[in-house]
Amino acid sequence: MSRAVKKIVLPVAGLGTRFLPATKAIPKEMLPVLDKPLIQYAVEEAIAAGIEDIILVTGRNKQVMEDHFDHAYELEKILQEKGKTEALEISRSMLLEEGRIAYVRQMRPLGLGHAIWCARKLVGDAPFAVALPDDLIVGKPGALKQMVDAYNELGGNIVATMDVAREDTSKYGVITPGRRSGKNVEVTGLVEKPHPADAPSTQAVVGRYILQPEVMAHLNKKMVGAGGEIQLTDAMAQLIGEQPFHAHEFDGQRFDCGSKIGWLMANMTLAAADPHLSEQLKSIVTFK
Ligand code: G1P
Repeated sequence: MSRAVKKIVLPVAGLGTRFLPATKAIPKEMLPVLDKPLIQYAVEEAIAAGIEDIILVTGRNKQVMEDHFDHAYELEKILQEKGKTEALEISRSMLLEEGRIAYVRQMRPLGLGHAIWCARKLVGDAPFAVALPDDLIVGKPGALKQMVDAYNELGGNIVATMDVAREDTSKYGVITPGRRSGKNVEVTGLVEKPHPADAPSTQAVVGRYILQPEVMAHLNKKMVGAGGEIQLTDAMAQLIGEQPFHAHEFDGQRFDCGSKIGWLMANMTLAAADPHLSEQLKSIVTFK
């Protein structure tokens, strides 16, 4: 029986340059999709998957996320006085019990692998999940819940994957697929951002992972990979052969909210699914 996944690491130190000037003074993880910031979608997905401890790897100018997960006393007081109970409930909806959210700083932008390594003391000797809040996944159940279910069956390490166009492999970590069983595929190789001509498949890793703590020892080597960064993909690749490693083809729609078009599509898709907004949306947009 595999040890339960109770922790998640959310790397949120990125600069968000693709969204400037919006992200000059606010973190990209606070960009809303409809009315909720990206970081909240990720935390809600984690909680729905039974995860208890949330670890945010932050950087400079990210403090507003700590405020987001805390009381807003002045706002709450005013809403209470005005009898705006629904708004009050919404503003309080993300208040986890004290101690369940921890923040650790990535002091230098050395890559995703380095960001995860920054959380090693908080992760300790336990399996943990990782979610990249830029990758918004709309699924029922959520992608992390689907992965935790797969993990409870398979153990080891699991990455979420989806099929992408060959010309897009250079944007992703890409797996070499082995034996398949339903939605789970054995991973026999992993490479970060391969050129389409060199990609071992078109099965791309999207931002959801369940990892064993041993990955930290590989990250500790600080190997520099694609783009001159310390890549999580390279450390994960070293686990292959040492521990079980699978890809899980999740059910759901993934939006790259780090890009304008992905973020716009996420907004449109969620608005189209919202009973209050869909009619108004239809009056200005024609859906195929
Ligand atoms: C990161 C990972 C990559 C993964 C991608 C998914 O890349 O390094 O392996 O496929 O997220 O969104 P980034 O988008 O940060 O360049």
